[in-house]
Amino acid sequence: MAIDVTAKPTGTAARRKAPGPSRNCFLDYQRDAPRLIAGLQTEYGDIARFRIGPMLIHLVSHPELIRQVLVGSDTRHLKRGIFYDGFKAYFGDGLLTTDGDQWKRHRDISRPMFQAKRIEDMTPAITDAAVTLAGRLRAHSEQGEAFDLIHETMWYTIEVLGRTLFGSALGDAVDRVGPAVQVGMPLIIQRGNPMYQAIPTWVPIPHNLKLRRTLAVLDDFLADVIEDHRRNPRSDLVTGYLDADAGMSTKEIRDGLMTTFLAGHETTGTSLAWTLWQLANTPTIRRTLEAEVDSVLGGRPATLEDLPNLPYTRMVVEESLRVYPPIWLYPRQATQDLEIAGYHIPTGSNLFISPYATHRHPEFWDNPEAFDPDRFTPERVAERDRHAYMPFGFGQRQCIGKHIALLQLQVAVATVAQEMRLSMVPGTPVTYDAKLSFRPRQAPGHTISVTAHPRRDT
Ligand code: HEM
Repeated sequence: MAIDVTAKPTGTAARRKAPGPSRNCFLDYQRDAPRLIAGLQTEYGDIARFRIGPMLIHLVSHPELIRQVLVGSDTRHLKRGIFYDGFKAYFGDGLLTTDGDQWKRHRDISRPMFQAKRIEDMTPAITDAAVTLAGRLRAHSEQGEAFDLIHETMWYTIEVLGRTLFGSALGDAVDRVGPAVQVGMPLIIQRGNPMYQAIPTWVPIPHNLKLRRTLAVLDDFLADVIEDHRRNPRSDLVTGYLDADAGMSTKEIRDGLMTTFLAGHETTGTSLAWTLWQLANTPTIRRTLEAEVDSVLGGRPATLEDLPNLPYTRMVVEESLRVYPPIWLYPRQATQDLEIAGYHIPTGSNLFISPYATHRHPEFWDNPEAFDPDRFTPERVAERDRHAYMPFGFGQRQCIGKHIALLQLQVAVATVAQEMRLSMVPGTPVTYDAKLSFRPRQAPGHTISVTAHPRRDT
């Protein structure tokens, strides 16, 4: 349905409802949430009104309207809301889940670690971890065995996070925390449901028992990291929290670090897995990428200085984040009545912003399911509304880790592509699972079976 996305609020939309389905979408959301959300956009257009159980939701999918929500005057009347409240069982009150002064305190402590100069200084550690990742893939190939790609990409992102923000090599913690994170993802999203929020976490229903078990693993892990820093302070995020001027409580420190640990490794590990999987399945794109890295790197691992000379690598990463956005949906909740595109949004309504849907919006993307890095040539980017692409969000709450994530993705893709090729193990096709992040899934536990082959042998 065509609407005027640039319409200024008239105040006359008092009770005008946005279009949307009359059925309750609870079951569709449980079954396949991205499909539901993309379908609502296709059927009802740039703003769609629907219900999941008792929750009223407006999906806002045109960039012009998303600007109104994320950076326009409506921003001050929106909070993180009931979905993010559910995440608090895991993340606590950290950077991702809070608003106002509490959020600002976390952002102020974290900000120095994410400044351009600090990120520049992180590059050698990132390059090192990428070289080790390529070596791990080589070791699998030498043993002639299939392995789980997700396990390897999570190893890499935990290792990078450890060496850049948490002050020690943590990669091997993937075996300690990986299963807990996988079990935890659907629990986090379930907690967005008011039904679960109404049941205190001490009530021994299966959901709560699982929640407690997985949290205990993550909490123990973080307690070890914090204890280690109390004994040996270093210049990193953990010490930043321990030394915060305003003095942070133990819980605030735990919540701040848990947020960055979970938000920082799972998203990037997921994106790297999608990207390497896509390359394994698209030989023409893989060959163009290999030609670029061979000519620019000539056998060296990729460093920060190389990145401007690796435009195709960047385009592959950007296209991967378009088709497979790890944070495929981010919600807000209205704290007062709003008007968007002439429609009434009552107080309490949730607003969904979905990169998955907007990255498939027909006004901005032709044949959106096709993986085509050429969409990200500078000329084509300049022609497009820049907010039609928003894997990291934008505005005040834009992802604080955006530049670290892009850096580590480009360095890993270039370094791995130079040495190794991956092939899918024939069998069960890879689909997605979007319980919290948008993850590839081939078998229960989100494994993806691949084999690796050194390029000089292929
Ligand atoms: C490909 C990788 C990543 C993607 C796609 C991603 C995506 C996002 C998105 C969409 C948001 C905004 C959510 C909203 O507006 O509600 C966000 C916030 C956040 N991200 Fe990321 N992220 C990635 C990597 C990282 C990394 C590497 C870190 C840390 C090292 C990180 C830490 C955070 C934090 C702490 C927030 C909350 C920021 C705030 O509210 O002030 N993310 N991320």
